[in-house]
Amino acid sequence: MSALSELYKEIELCQKCEIAKYRTRAVPGEGAEDAEIMFIGEAPGWHEDKQGRPFVGPAGQFLDELLAAIGLKRQQVYITNVVKTRPPSNRDPLPMEIENCRQWLNRQIEIIKPKMIVTLGRYSMAMFFPGKSISKIHGTAQKRDDIIYYAMYHPAAALHQQSLRRIIEEDMLKIPKLLAEAKNIAEVEPSPQQLSMFEV
Ligand code: URA
Repeated sequence: MSALSELYKEIELCQKCEIAKYRTRAVPGEGAEDAEIMFIGEAPGWHEDKQGRPFVGPAGQFLDELLAAIGLKRQQVYITNVVKTRPPSNRDPLPMEIENCRQWLNRQIEIIKPKMIVTLGRYSMAMFFPGKSISKIHGTAQKRDDIIYYAMYHPAAALHQQSLRRIIEEDMLKIPKLLAEAKNIAEVEPSPQQLSMFEV
């Protein structure tokens, strides 16, 4: 069994948070084990909870379109969320839920070893760019320990706010060039807050 399949089993059995009682399915993530790019959203919604797959509702359709715009299919990348269980009524994930799920995300990163991590939305951004504001840093990249971190608005934001659609599309179109030129991007020192992200 692959390392990812083993991990999915553990995630499906996890009962650390109260919300595990109410889920239909856990949503560990999906995609290629050797993906170069890993997209990290917030938490599963109604559709994802039913299917056990990330980004399969309206936001996911837009994400598929964005991927197609750079010549990629979802099977060629890796897609997951900060939190692997749907928070009831789609409320925001609680800090404790994010903390409890962090070990899974860390292990996904260890297994996949992506060249680039794309954060989708505020919650995912906060893990890798603590203290930053999405309106300031979307579409910008930072390289640390040989991984390019790149912040984008959440695709669902375009469904609520039409003006963000163009911005999200433009930010997505920058990804191939960043990957192609990864070697030329200067490394930055991780801040103490960023380092603490990997302590579980
Ligand atoms: N929004 C997310 O952040 N993740 C999903 O999987 C679906 C919608």
